[in-house]
This record gives sequence, structure tokens and C-alpha cells, in this order.
Amino acid sequence: MSPVLFRGWGEAVDGPWPDVATVVDHIGVPHLVVTRHALIRRLLTDPETFRPDNALDAVTPIPVAALRVLAGHRFRLPPTLANNSAASHPEIRGIVADALHPERVAAQQPWLTDLVRHRVARLAATLDVGEPVDLYAELAADLPLLVLARLVELPDAPVGAVKDFARAALELFWAPLDEARQLALATEVGRFHTVLRVFAATGGGLAARLRAAGHSPDVVVGALFFLLVAGQETTSQFLTLLLHRLTGEPTVRAGLRSGEIAVADVVEEGLRLEPPIVTWRRVAAVDTTLGGTAVAAGTSIVAWLARAGRDPELLAAPDEFRPGQRGSRRHLAFGAGPHRCVGAQLARMEAAVVVAEAAPLLDGVTVIRPPWCPDNLTFRMPDAFVVRRG
Ligand code: HEM
Repeated sequence: MSPVLFRGWGEAVDGPWPDVATVVDHIGVPHLVVTRHALIRRLLTDPETFRPDNALDAVTPIPVAALRVLAGHRFRLPPTLANNSAASHPEIRGIVADALHPERVAAQQPWLTDLVRHRVARLAATLDVGEPVDLYAELAADLPLLVLARLVELPDAPVGAVKDFARAALELFWAPLDEARQLALATEVGRFHTVLRVFAATGGGLAARLRAAGHSPDVVVGALFFLLVAGQETTSQFLTLLLHRLTGEPTVRAGLRSGEIAVADVVEEGLRLEPPIVTWRRVAAVDTTLGGTAVAAGTSIVAWLARAGRDPELLAAPDEFRPGQRGSRRHLAFGAGPHRCVGAQLARMEAAVVVAEAAPLLDGVTVIRPPWCPDNLTFRMPDAFVVRRG
């Protein structure tokens, strides 16, 4: 087993790797890890050869006891978005994409700016009196969920309950786990799934539109499930990682201050070097080859997105945070092809607002507690980010 599979960031992402490598996971399953930008692009844009069907498969098979708990909550995740290679995908994606249309996203920007500005003022006051602040908990954690709720009607559940459910889902499906933990996570995920099921049957907004288009209750639940996880947890992770990165990039902050560096360019370099989703999976549909390596049908393929952003074929300074450098935007943090992230515009808008408003907070701060990320095949899941002035 290679621990690298579950910590695909930091030191691992800079190590020497072949273009494709077979890596055996914690339960003995081999995965073909693809490390080069061009190969990953090919993989993601050819859904006939490399299907997305395994995108939400649990990397640690869920034991019977935990499956019973999930079944008790009538938990089902039929193919809807990320793991859907069927004919229904374009239509479901179209309905979700309408809800996240760039014009609707842009309309949220003033509201979000106002909210972030107020929070930053409060945090600045705390820093001014020498107290520490947790930029994850007090700034980044709930913002994406609050915006998503304004764009897409969501179940009327407390923010904390949705965050706990989403993080439990990311752990249950993408982490190396023991049975006791799987049982606890299945209980958490299952409980919220019941809430989603009721909302899918009765809720307005996106749920109502999917129902009106004739999609089954399972599909509506599946779409909401994915949105609640992918549509907010990813972005709060990204905001945290980007702010942490910027504390160590004083020249970039100075450029932001003087206006010489554009906020949008900082966001792109952030996505390239600190992607919250470090890998994404596909499965070979047929016997094929990838980078000269034979790939048997059924092989699990891990696209190392974090590594793709650092491919020396892409940029002159792949390891340096240089906003605006040629090739910076060609990262694959949002995937590629027919399943490319439909929330990319939204995530970029949120990150731009947070960088513009919160970067000045980082001047003169010391990191008391950097973000710590648990073992996970795909998601970074930082837990905190505490700074203090001086
Ligand atoms: C920085 C934040 C985000 C990152 C890095 C990210 C990344 C990704 C990646 C890598 C994929 C898989 C792409 C592929 O298979 O080629 C994906 C799919 C998806 N993302 Fe995001 N995402 C982010 C934020 C969001 C947001 C804010 C939303 C919605 C509110 C969202 C909704 C989706 C959906 C619905 C899909 C599935 C699309 C499909 O299969 O057609 N994501 N995202």
C-alpha cells in the first residue's frame, strides 16, 4: 500500500513519478495513477473509453452493518451527475447548470461582498487586540453554503448539520476507514439523507424543476446530495487553503494591494497549486492504453489533478505562485470534458470576493495553527486555520 494515494498533496505531489503508475491501496486494490496533464485531459474528455461510473464509489468498501444503516434510511445514490454516463446526464446537468448560470452567480456577488466585508471587519478588530482568529471556522466554512442556499433552494437545516453531513460523506466515500468509523459515518450520512428525501419530494427550486422534468425521487435526492457535498464543502476547503497559501506569499499580497496583481489571477494560481480536489476517478470501459501503458477494462484510474497543475509542460515556473503566469489557467482543478464542474463560475466568484476582501487581514499575522488535512483519496478537508497578529 502506498500512503501517497491518500495524501496527494504537499510532499507527495512534488515527488518523482512516472507518467502512469500502478498504486495499490489500503485494501489491496490496484489503481492506475495518472500524473501528466495531457494524459489526464485525455482521460477526462473521452467518456467512451474512460467512464465516470466509479466517481462516487466508496474507496473502502462499506461493510454490511453500515450498509444496513444506510438502507434503513433508504439511502440510494443512482447515477445523476458526476457518476452518470447514461443518456440522462446532459438533461440533469442542464437543469443544475441553469440554476448556477453565470448571470445568477454574478447577481450574488454584491450580497456576498457585503457579508464578507462585515466578517473581515470583525476579524480585523479581534486581531487588533491580539486575539487569534480561525479563518476556516469564522470566515470560510459556511460562506459557500449560504450562497448555494440563495441560488438553489435547500432543505431548511442548520448550517452545522449540513456541514457535518457533507464532511461525513466525504470521509465515508473517499477515506481509508475501519468498520467502527464507517458505522458512525453511515449513521450521520443516513440521517441527513432522510431529510434530503423529504425535501426532494416536496421542496421548491431545483428539486421542483428536476421533478417537473420527470426525474425519479432517487435522482432528485442524488442531485441534491452531490450539490450539498461538492457545491459547498469543496469551496470552503479551497478558500481556507488559498488564504493559508497567501500568508506565505507576501509579494502576491503586496501586488494585490497595489493593484498590479489581479484578484482573478490569484484565484487561478490558487486552484492550480492548492486544489481542494486532488484526484478524481474514472474506470476503463474497454481494454485500452494510456501513456503507452496497457489498461484492462475495469481498471480504476486515478487522475491526479493536483499534479496536473504542476506539469512542467504547462508553465515555466510550475511550483511558484505567480499570478498571471502563462499557462496558469490551464489547471484541471475543475476536471474537463462532459463532466467538468458546473459550479466553476460560482467557486471562482466566491474565491475572488474572499481574496479581495480578506487578503489584507493576512498582513503581519503569524500562523498559530496551519490547516491539517486527514487522509483522503480526493478531498483536502482542512480542519482549522488559526492566525494571530504579530
Ligand atoms: C473550488 C471549488 C470546486 C472544485 C475544485 C470542483 C471540482 C470539481 C471536479 C474535479 C469535478 C469532476 C469533473 C470531471 O469529472 O471532469 C466536479 C464536478 C462537479 N461539480 Fe465541482 N468543484 C468545485 C465547486 C463546485 C460548486 C460550487 C458546485 C455547485 C454549486 C459544484 C458542482 C459540481 C457538479 C454538479 C459536478 C458534476 C458535473 C457533472 O458530472 O456533469 N462544484 N467539480
